[in-house]
Amino acid sequence: MALVLPATTWIEPGARHRAGAEAVALGRARALLVTDAFMVQSGVAAEIRAGLEEAGLAVALFDGVEPDPTDAAVDEGRAALVAHEADVVIGLGGGSALDAAKTIAVRGGNPGPMRQYMGYQQLVGAGLPVIAIPTTAGTGAEATRVVVVTDTSTDTKMMLLDDRLCPTVALVDVELSATMPRPLTAHVGVDTLTHGIEAYVSAKATEETDPLALACVRRCGEHLRAAWEDGDLEARAGMARAAYEGGAAFANASVCLVHGMSRPLGAVFHVPHGLSNAVLLPTVTAFSLEGAPERYAEVARALGLVAGDESVAAAGDALIAGLEDLNRRLEVPRLRDLPGVTRERFDAALPKMAQDALASGSPDRNPVVPTAEQIEELYRRAW
Ligand SMILES: [Fe+2]
Repeated sequence: MALVLPATTWIEPGARHRAGAEAVALGRARALLVTDAFMVQSGVAAEIRAGLEEAGLAVALFDGVEPDPTDAAVDEGRAALVAHEADVVIGLGGGSALDAAKTIAVRGGNPGPMRQYMGYQQLVGAGLPVIAIPTTAGTGAEATRVVVVTDTSTDTKMMLLDDRLCPTVALVDVELSATMPRPLTAHVGVDTLTHGIEAYVSAKATEETDPLALACVRRCGEHLRAAWEDGDLEARAGMARAAYEGGAAFANASVCLVHGMSRPLGAVFHVPHGLSNAVLLPTVTAFSLEGAPERYAEVARALGLVAGDESVAAAGDALIAGLEDLNRRLEVPRLRDLPGVTRERFDAALPKMAQDALASGSPDRNPVVPTAEQIEELYRRAW
C-alpha cells in the first residue's frame, strides 16, 4: 500500500512566500503562474509573482481559470506554458485553479482528447512539477492526485486520478484563506468534512489513510463552525490543515457516493463543488449508514457528537442529525433553493445525472453500492 502525497508540504502562516525557494530547489527557472481573475484583482497573484521573480525565476501569468475548469481552459493554459517554455507550474487559488494547474502541467505528455485519460491511472506521460498554493480551505487539491475537468463536448465532469497529477510541493498558508466569504467557508468546509468521512468509509480505506481521514473529521468538528461564525484565524488554520488531511486521505482511499452524485449536479447546473457536496452529505450518509455502521459511529465520535461509550446505532442516528444540523447552522441551502435549478429541469436531468454518477466509479466505493434508481431517489430526497 502506497500513500501518494506531495514530496514537500509546508503548513504555516506565510507559507506562500516559500514558492520561489521551492522552485529553485527543484532546479527550475521558468514558471507559469496559473490562477483566476479574482486572485489578480486582489493582488495576491502579483505578490506571488514578485516572490518568484525575486528568487530569480522568469514568470508568465495565466489567469484564465474559471470555476469548474474546462478542457478548453486547460488547453489555453497549456498554450501559455509552451509559449513561455515554462519548466514549473505554480497553481494559486481554489480547487478549480489548482486542478487546472495540475492538468496543464501533465498535458504535454498526454496529448489528444482529455476524455481518454479519464478514470484511474490512465495518463501515459509525465508532467512538470507543480507548486500548489490553495486559497480556500476546502478541496484539498494541493494534496491530491485527482483533478475534475469539464468535458465541454458532453457537459460532464471528468475525474482523472493519476500519481503524476499530485503536486510536488504544497504550500498551505492560512493567511490566504483568512478573507474567504462566509458562504464559501461553509460550503468548502462541509466539502472538507465530506472528504474525511468518505475516505474513512470507502471500500478502499487503509490503515495509512484512516488516521488522516479521522484527523480531518476531528478538526472539522473542532473548527468548522467557529471558522464560519467569527472567522478567527485559529479556526481557519484548523480548517486549512483539515483540508490538506482530507485531500491526502481521499486521494489515496477514494471518495464515494456524495462526490459521485455531486459532480453531475455541478456539470448540469453549475453548482460549485463545495456546495453540491454539502447539499448531498446528510441525505447520502443516511442512505449509506447501514453499510458501515461501526465506521460511521467512529465518525460521530470524532465529530464530538457522541461519547465514546455510546452504542453504534445511537451514534449513527446522532451523525445524521448532526450533519443536518450543521447544514442548517451554516445556512447551506437545499437543492430547490439553488438559482437556476427548477424542479422541471431537475427531474428531466435525473436519469443522466444518475448514469454519470455511476460512470464516475466513486459510488462503487460507497458502503452501500446504489443502483441508478436509488441514486435518482437520493437526488429527489435532497431536493
Ligand atoms: Fe470534494
